[in-house]
Amino acid sequence: DFTVAVVLPAGGSGERTGLSTPKQFCTFLNRPLISYTIQAFERVGWIEHIVVVVAKDNLDLMVTIVQQFGHNKVKVVLGGSTRHRSIFNGLKAFEATGEECAPTKPKVVIIHDAVRPFVEEDFLVKIAVAAKEQGAAGAVRPLVSTVIATTSEGYLDHSLERSKYRASEMPQGFLYDIIYQAYLQCSEADFEFGTECLHLALQYCGTNARLIEGPPTLWKVTYKRDLFAAESIIKESGT
Ligand code: CTP
Ligand code: MG
Repeated sequence: DFTVAVVLPAGGSGERTGLSTPKQFCTFLNRPLISYTIQAFERVGWIEHIVVVVAKDNLDLMVTIVQQFGHNKVKVVLGGSTRHRSIFNGLKAFEATGEECAPTKPKVVIIHDAVRPFVEEDFLVKIAVAAKEQGAAGAVRPLVSTVIATTSEGYLDHSLERSKYRASEMPQGFLYDIIYQAYLQCSEADFEFGTECLHLALQYCGTNARLIEGPPTLWKVTYKRDLFAAESIIKESGT
C-alpha cells in the first residue's frame, strides 16, 4: 500500500502581506494563488485526495474556486485558530470514514502550505518515498542569514554556526498514522506556538525525520514582495 494524500493548510489571514485579502486568494492571470498550488498536486497522477483547509470566512469563496477551476480531487474543510489546528482538522477529514465524500485514509500524507505554489512532482516523489520508508520527511534549505540569539535586553547573546543549521520548509511527508497520533497527543502549547511538525513526530512517536534539500522555488509567500515574485514566475511559465 502506497496511497498518498495531501493536506493544504490555507486557513491563515496573511497579516504580514499588509493586504486585506489573504495571500492564498490573491489572483494572478485570473486565477487565485491557491488554485496554482492545487493544480501542482492535481497534475500528479498518484495523488488521489487533496484536503484544503480554510477559515470560516473563506469557505464559500474556496468552494467557488474549486467549482470554477474544476478541482475534482479537492475536499474543503474548516480550519482552526493556528496553523497546527488547521492541519489537524485537515487530517481529521480522513477519519470521517463512512461519511459521504470522505477521502480514504492514505498510507502517506503530504502536508504543504497553500502559499508555496511551485512544488514539483520529482520533489514530491522524494518526500513521499522517504516518508514511507522513515516515517517522516521534510524539505530544508540552506540558511540565508546567520541566526543569532539575543538577550532580553537586546544584546547579542550567541550566534549559531550557519553551516550546521537549515531552514525548515514544506512539503513534509509522514506515515499517516504517525502524524495523526502525534497530533492526538500534542499539547496546547504545541498547537499555539507552531512547534515544527517534524518535531511533533519525533517527540510523540519517536520518528526520526529525513531532511531533503529542496529547490529554492519552494519558498513561502509571506510578504507583499513575495506576491510580486510569485506573479512574475507564473507569468513567465504560463502555468
Ligand atoms: N494557516 C492555516 N491556519 C491558520 C494559520 C495559517 O491553515 N490558522 C496556513 C496559511 O494559510 C498558510 C500556511 O499555514 O498557507 C503558512 O502560514 P503563514 O505563512 O504564517 O500564513 P498566514 O498565517 O496566513 O500569514 P501571517 O502569519 O502573515 O498572518
Ligand atoms: Mg501565520
